[in-house]
Amino acid sequence: MLINDNRQRVLETLLDGEFHSGAHLAECLGLSRTAVNNHIQALEALGLEIYSVKGKGYRLAEPVTLLDADVLSSGLASKVHLFDEVDSTNSFLLNNLGDLASGDCCLAERQTQGRGRRGREWVSPYAGSLYLSMYWRLDGGIAQAGGLSLVVGVLLVEALESLGIAGVSVKWPNDLYYGESKLAGILVEMRGQYGEPAHMVIGCGINVNLGQGAASQIDRDWTDLHQIHGAPVDRNLLAREVIGHLQKGLQQFELQGLAPFLERWRQRDRYLGKPVRVLLADSEVTGVAAGVDASGALLLETDSGLQAFNSGEVSLRPS
Ligand code: ATP
Ligand code: BTN
Repeated sequence: MLINDNRQRVLETLLDGEFHSGAHLAECLGLSRTAVNNHIQALEALGLEIYSVKGKGYRLAEPVTLLDADVLSSGLASKVHLFDEVDSTNSFLLNNLGDLASGDCCLAERQTQGRGRRGREWVSPYAGSLYLSMYWRLDGGIAQAGGLSLVVGVLLVEALESLGIAGVSVKWPNDLYYGESKLAGILVEMRGQYGEPAHMVIGCGINVNLGQGAASQIDRDWTDLHQIHGAPVDRNLLAREVIGHLQKGLQQFELQGLAPFLERWRQRDRYLGKPVRVLLADSEVTGVAAGVDASGALLLETDSGLQAFNSGEVSLRPS
């Protein structure tokens, strides 16, 4: 646990979403009023939204349920590493590959260096999202890993659907959208030599209740499950559902490859049949999105015929 014990106790008192006066917090926790005030400021700096009302005290903008290691790991054969704060859940697994088995996970309440594709930042406020990474070993090596980020996209949408959250779509190759707004991102990282097993780290960031503080840090339209669902979403339940879907789906991917996922992708493909631009390193190609091929490459119907693009350095945009 990285946030200090007294700060944790202040937070735990506020978790019920009710008002607690500074005097009450100080007395219950055996702290000075100044110390309470400092802890409140520190919690706000972590990304928690706290209302402060004269005469009433402090209250979390929304009641928050923290991730619970016992709930997450109950009935699971895999290991779950849960942190209050970590640089990046993907980095934690990448740094501990030697100790992992397929299906082991890392989750955190907050990431200090959450990462997106190509070194971009993933905004990761405290308790506002699910930051979840899973390790998977592919004995077939790097050649077996093609299309994995698409598989994960399908599995995340299916996990949300099983919780009654419908209408989420996939954007090739690694995003989940709701309407025009980004809901979640996937970062698949790989270690291994040709001819040897591939060590895959699959990172998922799903916005749950990001809060206003995060809004100013994200340079695009984004959304979260709270807005979509219109009610609080239990992150422990969500995490269990995501872990279950990933473990089952990755076993299927290992045995059968991308084929069983192609139709499931097509049904949720955000741009299928729509005009799009594909951004390359120093040019762009326009056309109509025509889904993906059997290897997971993006297909684009252009004036000069059907073209395929691999994910690497390519970005897809509406035209
Ligand atoms: P691509 O280049 O793959 O089309 P992209 O522009 O979405 O995709 P990514 O690297 O996939 O880029 O995602 C990182 C981007 O996502 C960041 O640059 C930022 O704009 C946005 N972002 C960061 N944090 C969040 C978040 N919590 N929710 C939604 N969007 C975020
Ligand atoms: C993207 O859209 O570019 C991918 C974002 C992936 C974010 C998740 S959060 C959990 C895991 N840890 C990270 O540092 N990144 C991924």
